[in-house]
Amino acid sequence: MSNPTRIAVFASGTGSNLEALFEALEGRPDAEIAVVVSDRPDATALERARSRGVGVRTVDPDDAGEIVAVLEDHDIEWIVLAGYLKRVPAQVVARWRNRILNIHPALLPKYGGKGMYGHHVHRAVLEAGETVSGPTVHLVDEEYDRGPIVARRTVPVEPGDTPASLAARVLAVEHRLLPEVVIAAVEGRLVVEGDRARLLPGEA
Ligand code: GRF
Repeated sequence: MSNPTRIAVFASGTGSNLEALFEALEGRPDAEIAVVVSDRPDATALERARSRGVGVRTVDPDDAGEIVAVLEDHDIEWIVLAGYLKRVPAQVVARWRNRILNIHPALLPKYGGKGMYGHHVHRAVLEAGETVSGPTVHLVDEEYDRGPIVARRTVPVEPGDTPASLAARVLAVEHRLLPEVVIAAVEGRLVVEGDRARLLPGEA
């Protein structure tokens, strides 16, 4: 059996997606979250990692050298952005090209880009009168929310939705989608062709 694929999760906030990943990877011999990285020392995500005995590192998000050193120290193959609010430095993107995943709480390519995070996203979706929304997982390039889309799931926008009610409905689906994509990536089922990405089906 080869060594487990070593994953770094970057998170700035609550870390409910991190928790979903921990739960999905529990007991799997082929993948492990080796370190949780944050730009915020007070991120709840770091507490979740500590309580599972997983190492945490707080970094200066603009210090590419520091981030590369943390990732090298931990022999990281895949990076998962789970509510990480900073842009990943170009040097890190180049080094882990097509090995960085992000989850975004709307159907990209709409409602992404700088400033489109948290309730700003859901408010924009509601103001546009959309009837569906849902999370997107994509590969990270040098721009916010722009890299190849890997998977999306739709959820209905309900009459009377507020940004908070829509966020909660989308988040529940994020917690299933992100682990699904990460497991596919670990199993070598994430295929990138040019600027397109797709998942090959897993074994039933
Ligand atoms: C999620 O909605 C995710 O899509 C976005 O930030 C939020 C993070 O939530 N990028 P959590 O920290 O995982 O609870």
